[in-house]
Amino acid sequence: MTAKIIDGKQIAADMRAELKAEVAKLKDKGIVPGLAVILVGEDPASQSYVTAKEKACAEAGIYSDDNRLPEDTTQEKLMALVERMNKDARINGILVQLPLPGHLNEWEVLFAIDPAKDVDGFHPVNVGKMVVGEKGFLPCTPHGVIQLLIRSGVKLEGAEVVIVGRSNIVGKPLANMLIQKNKKGNATVTVCHTRTKDLASHTRRADIVIAAAGRPNTVTADMIKDGAVVIDVGVNRVEDATKKKGYRLVGDVDFEAVKEKASFITPVPGGVGPMTITMLLYNTVESAKRAAGIA
Ligand code: GUN
Repeated sequence: MTAKIIDGKQIAADMRAELKAEVAKLKDKGIVPGLAVILVGEDPASQSYVTAKEKACAEAGIYSDDNRLPEDTTQEKLMALVERMNKDARINGILVQLPLPGHLNEWEVLFAIDPAKDVDGFHPVNVGKMVVGEKGFLPCTPHGVIQLLIRSGVKLEGAEVVIVGRSNIVGKPLANMLIQKNKKGNATVTVCHTRTKDLASHTRRADIVIAAAGRPNTVTADMIKDGAVVIDVGVNRVEDATKKKGYRLVGDVDFEAVKEKASFITPVPGGVGPMTITMLLYNTVESAKRAAGIA
């Protein structure tokens, strides 16, 4: 079987067009959703993510407040900026790009964000709401994965899902979302990680394999059953002298071999990646509607 490629770029473009139309309607009511983006330091990958987030905001008609701070920014300065954004009525979402430089206390900063503006879904109030199935903000990458599956017609109810990776940003929240008793859940979920004894014995049983380990070739063709759905959340730079930048991006899945066996597969780039920013825009619009009392 040759897999159908799940086109994350196209699905993201469709959702962004829906959001853009919604933002235009909100503007007629005098509501302009606003996102504060905070980046500390010079990490090139973080800089390009943040630039992409701001560009996506502009395209959707969302106001974005760009805050790029030097590497040696103090905890006090950063906390003061978060406080200012918490109070700023133009701002519906606050995004602090992670990782922060080592001298800063990441948890203290994330906890300081008003949960009602926590469009990343990282604040413990929103994590708790997600776990018990209450409305808060869902984290963008795992929510994007679920949207890709639903919009590709993949049935989640009763599906055996194996997640490879237990990070706070992807693996753990994804497992929580997929076991919820609702339309985005009802799956049976196994979470595998670096201490799992026999990874292949788990992935081979799976109807849906989600790779979020952060290591190339973690999922190979012999590890999946015929017709499985394979979602690749990995983004890894591998050296490639034929590329201008000297590297290329690969996921966690051996794409070329696995696509001959799977029923659906996401590419890297162009799979999950474009969905993360899309769900950030979605959360920001949702936050603006809640602030205006219309959601
Ligand atoms: N760094 C890597 N992924 C993310 C994300 O989804 N949100 C934030 N704030 N930082 C990140």
